[in-house]
Amino acid sequence: MTDSSIPKFFEKSHEEKLNIISNFSDLTDDEVNHLKNATGGIDFEHANKMIENAISTFSLPLGIATNFKINNKDYLVPMVIEEPSVIAAASKAAKIAKIHGGFTASVEGNVSIGQIQLREKIGLNEILDIKEKILAGSKEILELANSKSNTLTKLGKGAKEILCKEVLSSDHGNGRYMIVELMIDVGDAMGANVTNTMCEAVAPLIEKLTGKTTLLRILSNYSTKRMVTAMATFDKDAVGGEQVVNDMISAFDFADNDIYRAVTHNKGVMNGTISVANATGQDSRAIEAAAHAYASHTGRYRSLTTWAKDDSGNLVGKFEIPLSVGIVGGVTNDHPVAKICTKILNLTSVQDLACIMASTGLAQNFAAMRALVTEGIQKGHMKLHARKQASNS
Ligand code: MEV
Repeated sequence: MTDSSIPKFFEKSHEEKLNIISNFSDLTDDEVNHLKNATGGIDFEHANKMIENAISTFSLPLGIATNFKINNKDYLVPMVIEEPSVIAAASKAAKIAKIHGGFTASVEGNVSIGQIQLREKIGLNEILDIKEKILAGSKEILELANSKSNTLTKLGKGAKEILCKEVLSSDHGNGRYMIVELMIDVGDAMGANVTNTMCEAVAPLIEKLTGKTTLLRILSNYSTKRMVTAMATFDKDAVGGEQVVNDMISAFDFADNDIYRAVTHNKGVMNGTISVANATGQDSRAIEAAAHAYASHTGRYRSLTTWAKDDSGNLVGKFEIPLSVGIVGGVTNDHPVAKICTKILNLTSVQDLACIMASTGLAQNFAAMRALVTEGIQKGHMKLHARKQASNS
């Protein structure tokens, strides 16, 4: 089975849903049983090794969004979220997007940025000299950095470039900081550990080259060398006609020009992206931090998505974010349910995952805006609430 359109998926029994997912993604009996038992994934022993002071584990609902077609491939998208109506909304949006071929998404690269701060503030007169010293030693710095990861080096990845930049101190009279940035191709990994390791490893060499001491040695979560873009065309009639399309563009315009609305609008976008991040064991705080910083990249906080009409009056959406994700290492490999979710996605590369996360964010934003300009969002939210009340009474 390769079609992600599964009519009335929400009406199926737990067993039927699992059978569908199992067929779609070739899950083993063990994997299906793991999902069936809904134990939440990790046992206490495991949790105790992941964090300090562990006392238990904590689980959240895992659901599947249907109808996704991204770059011509169908996906059933696992989403971990506590909020009702999000998964139904994403599935509905993906169904409408499918009319015009689904989502088109692309990834710019997988370069992680490591930052090394020189402790002493420097004056304008010193900048060139220090830069020259660092850049003259860049081959040596890169070699040292790459000696910290055989895996990346073997793959032809790893630290590729050294950049220097000055950051003005708030105390202007007192100079600026020189920041050395390591550009590291981290391949299929999120890369936080390897980036931090490399930064710490090269700091003594930078000290030797410059005669200065170093202070911070840490990755930047503002992953602008890992930009992802997702686009889709939503059929005018399926959206609800010209008026709804126009109203959705006005809703976007409102978000793009008012920070109070933009934060809520972007929160809705991230409902999609972060649910997939949670399901696949990503660092959701890193993703959120980068996304909201990027929302301000023009100088003010704006909508993360853009919406316009095409020549036929269809609604065209675009979502662009810096997205650092990984499918090797970390929780992705450790957490049994994250592992199963990654398998459900039938990924061929980390780029696929980034494209899915961006597409889900766009779908979510579409669904939220459509609901907001028509029936309001409470109707969808209250559907499950009513079911819960009924089962409590
Ligand atoms: C709720 O989680 C998300 C929304 O508030 C997003 C939005 O207002 O666009 C519905």
